Amino acid sequence: MKKLSKFLGSWRYWPTCIRFMLRSDLGISFAQRFAIIRDFYRITLSFENIPHYQRQILVFAEAILQQPRESRGVIIEAGCFKGVSSAKFSLIAKMTGKTFYVFDSFQGIPPNDEAHEIYGSAVTFEEGDYAASLDTVQKNIREHGDIDSCRFVQGWFDDTFPDFKEPVAAAYLDVDLVSSTKTCIQYIWPLLQPDGVIYSQDAHLKDIQDLFADEVFWREEVGTEPPTIRRDNKAQLLYVVKPG
Ligand SMILES: C[S@@+](CC[C@H](N)C(=O)[O-])C[C@H]1O[C@@H](n2cnc3c(N)ncnc32)[C@H](O)[C@@H]1O
Repeated sequence: MKKLSKFLGSWRYWPTCIRFMLRSDLGISFAQRFAIIRDFYRITLSFENIPHYQRQILVFAEAILQQPRESRGVIIEAGCFKGVSSAKFSLIAKMTGKTFYVFDSFQGIPPNDEAHEIYGSAVTFEEGDYAASLDTVQKNIREHGDIDSCRFVQGWFDDTFPDFKEPVAAAYLDVDLVSSTKTCIQYIWPLLQPDGVIYSQDAHLKDIQDLFADEVFWREEVGTEPPTIRRDNKAQLLYVVKPG
């Protein structure tokens, strides 16, 4: 009953889901598109207090599915919390035959002194917020997603990303901090394949918007001409595409 009312309460995402099911340009059948929506809802209804909107996960799924199947590169999620978004992305990885890397400390947000603002209200992310162990994440993905598509990289991004050298097709950042976002972009951008994408789910944070718009950051810390910053307002996502 609780699941049914939660499902009915999500009515505002139904048009997005129906549009997704009707898209014929994603390289998968209607049955597969239907299965994605069914599985994403099944996963959502199995957890409480999920820190993403269904629309956000679908938009990133579409970005992966739109890439030619023969294109190189792995999928990355930086910031997984309990692995609910990861379980959904792992199903897309399986469908596209791509390897899916999950980066997280598995002990929550790092120590930081960042003060954030969401639409004018002050907010902070404290050390240890969103902590979930690697075991918990793996169990959730095993039960709800495709664990065989996943590789887990445990540790602070500053320690783990410098050793990562795989070509990247698509990356999804949901890390709450400017410092964490910076590290992800600095290391992922050089590995990003032509037409590859980096999405940020932290588009509601003013300082993250400012970071994406900071031309000096792109030139001096990433080492590239600033890319066009794109925004999906409905899904509250920021993203950049590597020029082809
Ligand atoms: C909001 S949660 C992710 C939620 C998840 N994407 C979802 O929708 O279910 C943010 C995550 O970022 C991770 N994180 C943030 N900064 C990090 C850093 N510098 N190194 C490792 N993990 C980090 C935290 O451990 C946490 O799991």
